[in-house]
Amino acid sequence: MNYQHHFHAGNHADVLKHLALLQLIALMEQKDAGFLVLDTHAGAGLYDLEASEARRGDEAEGGIGRLRAASENADAAVPALIRRYLGLVDGFGRRHYPGSPALAVSTLRAQDRFVGVEMVPKVARELERNLSGLAVPEDGLAPRRRTTRCDNGLAALKSDLPPIERRGIILIDPPYEQASEREDIVLAIEAGLQRFATGVFALWYPIKQRAYLDRWLRRIARLTPKPVLTIENSIIRDEPGNRLTGSGLLVINPPWQFDIAMAPVLEFINRALREDDAAPASIDWLNPPA
Ligand SMILES: C[S@@+](CC[C@H](N)C(=O)[O-])C[C@H]1O[C@@H](n2cnc3c(N)ncnc32)[C@H](O)[C@@H]1O
Repeated sequence: MNYQHHFHAGNHADVLKHLALLQLIALMEQKDAGFLVLDTHAGAGLYDLEASEARRGDEAEGGIGRLRAASENADAAVPALIRRYLGLVDGFGRRHYPGSPALAVSTLRAQDRFVGVEMVPKVARELERNLSGLAVPEDGLAPRRRTTRCDNGLAALKSDLPPIERRGIILIDPPYEQASEREDIVLAIEAGLQRFATGVFALWYPIKQRAYLDRWLRRIARLTPKPVLTIENSIIRDEPGNRLTGSGLLVINPPWQFDIAMAPVLEFINRALREDDAAPASIDWLNPPA
């Protein structure tokens, strides 16, 4: 495996994914009952933006860097979710950027649970170390309610579902570097849905090869009669080729009003991060709610 998130931490794709994750968590927290966040491709949990990997492409500058600058210079109101996200990120110090596990563990409550799965042993060790060092609020997630393990995250959609809480967010954030990965993802989500039809599944994907991508997304939506939406943000205009133009999340069973809550957030980040005025952003229902 070649993929290392250390090169990409804090980029435009992380901004969209992490804002969506925080919004999903906030909506789930509207009910007192605890829930699971299962992060199937967890990564290292915290990234040093001064490390040579991060410095190489300076991707964080085009993501969290641009967003921070836009919110500092905004004429209109900055959506509350973006202010909260920037506050959380800044809590790790400007030198570091938190990954999805650190953001989730920082915002979950005492009754919730976090499971992070990472396949690369060295990264899995880093993840455990980074989460162990995290200071969580007194009424937040106790250390015994978060676990990490070195394993295949797609297999966790069988082994860890349904959660005992019967409520959960499953973040699936693969690197998309193996030829078989897209097929494996479809099969894993199918297995996950068989066990946990009401789970909130959030699958991150890169936007490239649009026609092929749309067919693949529709195939996933057909796995369930439940509501499915996509939320996408591009930084350059769509093109038919293999160049990455942006990223998206396919969300199965989004909590009520997730789309409405995300609309102003998406508009703000699109304007802040795009490198081309024609870069699209959209929220579309593949399976509309009944
Ligand atoms: C995009 S990164 C994850 C970033 C993280 N979710 C975040 O938002 O901070 C993908 C991670 O998945 C790991 N990985 C690749 N294949 C995997 C698999 N089958 N199961 C679990 N982890 C895998 C990679 O080593 C990498 O750390």
